Amino acid sequence: MVIAQISDTHILARSSEQAVGAARAENLRRCIADINRGGVDVVVHTGDSVHHGMAEEYAHLREILADLEAPLFLIPGNRDRHGALRVAFDHLSYLPRNGDFLHYAVEDQPIRLVALDSVAAGERKGVFCARRLAWLEETLAREPDRPTILFIHHPPFDIGRHYVGGYRRPEDARKLAAVVSRHPQVERLLCGHVHRLHRESWGGTVATTMPSVAVDLRKGVDKAIEAAPLYLLHVASGEDGLVSHTRVVTH
Ligand SMILES: [Fe+2]
Repeated sequence: MVIAQISDTHILARSSEQAVGAARAENLRRCIADINRGGVDVVVHTGDSVHHGMAEEYAHLREILADLEAPLFLIPGNRDRHGALRVAFDHLSYLPRNGDFLHYAVEDQPIRLVALDSVAAGERKGVFCARRLAWLEETLAREPDRPTILFIHHPPFDIGRHYVGGYRRPEDARKLAAVVSRHPQVERLLCGHVHRLHRESWGGTVATTMPSVAVDLRKGVDKAIEAAPLYLLHVASGEDGLVSHTRVVTH
């Protein structure tokens, strides 16, 4: 199974007069065209799909994503707005129609995908409150024997000096790590938010973050690749486990 991860696309409205608006749309289009070249089973988007959470931005995003051939699984970032996202993506049946959270589990793929919503209205930081942790505990406990990939917009850990205390309550982040460590079927945690590549051991699994697809916002990427957008490929095989690659789109 091959999972492509895109993140932090920060799409602007089609009518935006900012130069980065067209550039970010093109960054995402190029990634989608590359993903469509074949071999990808599903795509996950780890949040901040648009820049201001506005309906016009989601309309533009949906128009760009319409070219994507593989199924897309989307979670909100702090730039997203639950209401506008629900309206724009009302065709995505896995997104809960009601309730405070946009989290869900995907059961019909060889690897189980579990998406945890870390976003609260008006809050830039990640929120891992008791209700979210209870949902995750219950969801993971239901399928203890199925290999699982968890995805969350906000990394629940610090990343050197680049990202410190990016979640509302550190004790909640520790509780989240404890929940995941009780479920060894979680083979990976995929995050966005920090716009840079990072990998570490966390909660008994491996946690990774990725550079933003929006080239103007990404950090820590070698200047040699200049304007080429990039995304990640996570390849699962029985023999090698889960192996991740950075895919730089040069065409
Ligand atoms: Fe972002």
